[in-house]
Amino acid sequence: MNTLRPSPDEDRAAGRPPRIEILPAAAWAPTVAAELIARLAARPSLRICLPTGETPSPVYAALAAAEARGAVSFAGSTIVMLDEWVGLPPGDPARCDVRLRSELLDRLRVPPSLFAAIDVDGPDPDEAATRHDAAAVGLDLAVLGLGTNGHVGFNEPGSSPDDATRLVRLAVSTREAATARYGASRMPTAGITVGLARLLAAGEAWLLVTGERKAAMLRRALEEPEGPDCPASYLRRHPRLTVFADDGAASLLPK
Ligand code: F6R
Repeated sequence: MNTLRPSPDEDRAAGRPPRIEILPAAAWAPTVAAELIARLAARPSLRICLPTGETPSPVYAALAAAEARGAVSFAGSTIVMLDEWVGLPPGDPARCDVRLRSELLDRLRVPPSLFAAIDVDGPDPDEAATRHDAAAVGLDLAVLGLGTNGHVGFNEPGSSPDDATRLVRLAVSTREAATARYGASRMPTAGITVGLARLLAAGEAWLLVTGERKAAMLRRALEEPEGPDCPASYLRRHPRLTVFADDGAASLLPK
């Protein structure tokens, strides 16, 4: 462990800007995977919050391949789901638990010591959200994707940095993505998401962003004043935020 590294409080006091890694598309997933492998090597009991979606898929493929050749182990780690649709049946291909299992967890020789999925199949989603909020306490690392509407997790526009893990109404573009991009069997209108308060309290936060379609929103998130129209902009409050962007996603950032 590097004891010379400033504490989070010192970072915050210093107003440390985000670390922005801009990578050629081909190097993006291997670089993100290598950093996660390094974090797991430094702390095998890492508590990690993970998203699903198209962005992290190549990272999960690289991690699964690395685990197969013995280059990393998740055995001591805890994986906490970032979010989940409410109203999709168990096994639905768009479900976040289904995707994370098929892209990463089921491909590991040795699974994480704990996988905290979000219980959206029980009778009370509010209660499930409260239970998941407890699971999201003390995260070492929150890995996040960026929605084209500025959301992180299902913290949709209008969210606040103080928000807890909760049941949310999904933005129209998020609902449409469930069926159009992820193959959901029906269009969900709600979800449960780890709230920005828990994400901002994690030891580190990573924002993963790829493709030109995200370029305008990445610029909005990083270059304009923070605000509820772009919940990702609140991530700049995090003292240890790293943005991993490929060339396309970074194409509108100042040179
Ligand atoms: C999914 C999630 C969402 C996605 C975002 C980007 O678990 O939390 O916030 O990260 O919508 O999705 P992709 O990566 O499919 O463009």
